[in-house]
Amino acid sequence: MDVPVKPADRPLTGRDTRPVYQLSRVSKKYRQGNIQALSAVDITLTEGSFSSIIGPSGCGKSTLLKIMAGVEPPSSGRVVLDGKPVTGPRRDIGMMFQQATLFPWRSTIENIVLPIEIREGRAAARKAHVDARELLELVGLEGFEEVYSHQLSGGMAQRAAICRMLITRPQVLLLDEPFSALDEISRDFMNLELQKVCMSRRATTMLITHSISEAVFLSDRVYVMSARPGQIIETIEIDLPRPRTTEMMVTPAFGVYVQRIRSLLDKGAFQ
Ligand SMILES: Nc1ncnc2c1ncn2[C@@H]1O[C@H](COP(=O)(O)OP(=O)(O)OP(=O)(O)O)[C@@H](O)[C@H]1O
Ligand SMILES: [Mg+2]
Repeated sequence: MDVPVKPADRPLTGRDTRPVYQLSRVSKKYRQGNIQALSAVDITLTEGSFSSIIGPSGCGKSTLLKIMAGVEPPSSGRVVLDGKPVTGPRRDIGMMFQQATLFPWRSTIENIVLPIEIREGRAAARKAHVDARELLELVGLEGFEEVYSHQLSGGMAQRAAICRMLITRPQVLLLDEPFSALDEISRDFMNLELQKVCMSRRATTMLITHSISEAVFLSDRVYVMSARPGQIIETIEIDLPRPRTTEMMVTPAFGVYVQRIRSLLDKGAFQ
């Protein structure tokens, strides 16, 4: 692809660093309904990199993320994180879904330390308040520690959910359309927040999205999937400088990436 961008100063990129997550020939057939959801997916995530998966509805994206998180077994193939096969949920993997799912009877900070409370008990959770306050500051929610979660706006609740995901210091973040319920302005803002968080933590991140511009904006690498059974039809390296800014979204280089992905999706959706 001919994209007119200069070699970039890229603090987030993991392109030249070590592979941390490796999926080899991952396939999934759900017995119930006899549905072949995924077919021979190969993905390697390098340390500190940000990748996105984009593909038509029902092509197996959430299935793939669940397999990566160890909550759904693959029918065949291998998933390895940091040299060890992923066979169940792990502390070094953080996950976030479309809905923030905060408990309304707990304050913001109590929601954020919940994963620690479940794993290590109340005393450890109290100690984790220090980390939680730092995270709240990182996402611009300082002052909202004691507010009950039903008193937060949708975007604020999603930011609190990011903090809850980060509290256990996971090495890998798996995000399944986390901002799709938000309006466009809040979503752009959340993308900037997410970029900030990932750059400061050097987390290795995989995002599922239906938004082409969100994928281009955030990613070092975009994996485009075909219709079910989901296969990676192309991997696109996004060579734009970091930190990315909303102004970049109207540049010709950004538009070339968007157009390329759109045409692949148009083809892949009807294969
Ligand atoms: N637990 C399950 N049992 C049986 N079939 C399932 C199960 N989960 C998902 N499927 C099927 O697998 C296919 C892929 O589903 P998946 O949720 O992974 O798609 P997706 O790409 O995330 O879709 P969307 O973009 O709409 O979220 C679908 O046909 C779905 O019906
Ligand atoms: Mg899904």
